[in-house]
Amino acid sequence: VWNRTSAKAEPLVQKGALVAADAAAAIGVSPIVIICVTGYEATRHIFETEKAASAVAGRLLIQWTTGTPQDARDGESWAKQYGAQYLDGAIIAVPSQIGRPETPIFVSGPEEAFRQGEPLLRVLAGSTQYMGEAVGEAAAWDLAVLSHYFGGLLGFYHGARIFESEGIRVDALGDMLAAIAPVIGEVVQNDSKAIQAADFDNAESSLEICWKGMELAVKQARESQINTDFPAFASAMFKKGVVAGYGEEKQAALIKVLREGA
Ligand SMILES: NC(=O)c1ccc[n+]([C@@H]2O[C@H](COP(=O)([O-])OP(=O)(O)OC[C@H]3O[C@@H](n4cnc5c(N)ncnc54)[C@H](OP(=O)(O)O)[C@@H]3O)[C@@H](O)[C@H]2O)c1
Repeated sequence: VWNRTSAKAEPLVQKGALVAADAAAAIGVSPIVIICVTGYEATRHIFETEKAASAVAGRLLIQWTTGTPQDARDGESWAKQYGAQYLDGAIIAVPSQIGRPETPIFVSGPEEAFRQGEPLLRVLAGSTQYMGEAVGEAAAWDLAVLSHYFGGLLGFYHGARIFESEGIRVDALGDMLAAIAPVIGEVVQNDSKAIQAADFDNAESSLEICWKGMELAVKQARESQINTDFPAFASAMFKKGVVAGYGEEKQAALIKVLREGA
């Protein structure tokens, strides 16, 4: 193992890892190299300043750093230039979850390279999922999942403020959301099918109802004098769909507004 600040490797040394003096030395003794740093720029910096680029020839380089699909494509071109095979991965877990059988990591790139790295990847993340040959796919999955995850978290934090304003315990909200997660998951699944099939008729839950729901959250925030940012944003988004004429359609019809331009 190697890290710029070598002291951070100490807990791994206690578990039997060997620390290399520099990145090139670590790569030199490793047929498979996994890198996970702040960003793709930091990866380049390490390979360029640590003289590690030449060491990577003939090895399988697995990038675990979070990036965009374009970052992944650039990473693959770069690795090819140095004679390395390349897989791009995305970690869907926090550090303490690494090494567990249920931990998901998305990986994409040449299937042959994935099969080579799979046994090692499964030790680190038992639920490693191969997303396909297109190297940018794991990053696309990652950013799509993160959009849902962080969007949900922002809603949760606002929900926590509603609870605080009404004197209700916030941890009860966390317990409730965990318990009803499959129900919310089913709604997302149904929305995804509607979008894929372009089927927005016969709404069980209309876009207008969603708008009205978030308008009520804005009203509550004003009444309780709590922050209005989240419900105001969500309400404005749903309102765009209503103004565009999709109010009676399924809530997933909002995708038509999002498609209209960057
Ligand atoms: N933490 C999570 O829960 C989580 C979950 C999913 C994905 N990820 C992804 O994992 C990646 C790392 O996140 P993290 O939470 O581990 O971040 P972190 O704790 O801040 O660690 C950043 C790492 O990057 C290294 N680094 C940064 N710039 C460098 C440079 N110019 N040269 C050499 N090394 C450099 C740091 O080295 P030093 O120790 O020397 O500073 C450190 O090892 C990110 O892409 C993140 O999105 C993290």
